[in-house]
Amino acid sequence: MANRVIVTCKSNVDIAKEIAKCMKAKLGKLSFSKFPDFESYCKFGEQLSGRHVFIVQSTCCPANENLMELLIAIDAARSSGAKRITAVIPYYGYARQDRQSKPGEPITAALVAKLLKAAGADSIITMDLHSKAVEKAIKVNKTHLHAYPAIASYFKAKKIRNLCIVAPDKGALKNAKLYAKALGAKTAFIEKKRKSATEVEAMSISSNINGLNCLIIDDIISTAGTICESAAMLKKLGAENIYVAATHGVLAGKAIQKLKKAPIKEVVVTNTIPQEQNKRKLKKLKIVSVAKLFCKAIRRESGK
Ligand code: R5P
Repeated sequence: MANRVIVTCKSNVDIAKEIAKCMKAKLGKLSFSKFPDFESYCKFGEQLSGRHVFIVQSTCCPANENLMELLIAIDAARSSGAKRITAVIPYYGYARQDRQSKPGEPITAALVAKLLKAAGADSIITMDLHSKAVEKAIKVNKTHLHAYPAIASYFKAKKIRNLCIVAPDKGALKNAKLYAKALGAKTAFIEKKRKSATEVEAMSISSNINGLNCLIIDDIISTAGTICESAAMLKKLGAENIYVAATHGVLAGKAIQKLKKAPIKEVVVTNTIPQEQNKRKLKKLKIVSVAKLFCKAIRRESGK
């Protein structure tokens, strides 16, 4: 019996299968069902005593349901004598509430980490947390991966000429520069002058993008407001083809409709969140797999 076992909860079974395949392993047995009142139940069909258990679960929509599923799986592994438990969370939901900007608000990024620890997780492996502040708020042993190698190699293969990597805000410029280096491209960043937290007064760009192909890089596409406004401005300023890439395709609310109408040639996201349904609705949506990056991290963490 191997010392390491990888199991999955229900939110992102496809990435878990890919991770297991990459590790030349089979997923361990873990089943879920509901009590008549819809409380969640799970049961391992594996001997866990003395083993390092990796539990894969993205806490994407429905975040509450998926988080609870992960917590009960961790608790079941702990109660079954697992030696070590690592929660593999390709998309860490609730991360964007990382500080109290107004009195009376929660800090959910930190709360989720506390819950994971309390359930019995020893560590987590996750990807592209929204900011340094989020990283700090999540006080649990963590391996923080970046989708950059997978996304950059997707675009490298496309050999796009006259490319400019565009950061949708100044904070994203560091990341944009990484891509620019890998793709031999220029960089630019968008500046927003805000009227209020929700209203943008004006947008401007740090350099001339007239006649260039543009690739906007972001960590998350949620409502797609940021990306669509940025793309519209780039088009107005004479950009040729506009591409968009983000690690997490949350695609909430009317995001799909907005992206359909936007002057964007391709929207590239990873499989940290399942995209099968969205792909059917949005033809220009392309998926890059980050399973290999998780596979390598699991190997490092389990020492083989
Ligand atoms: C903001 O700082 C983030 O990097 C994303 O730009 C933001 O979360 C995207 O949200 P939305 O798609 O709703 O504009």
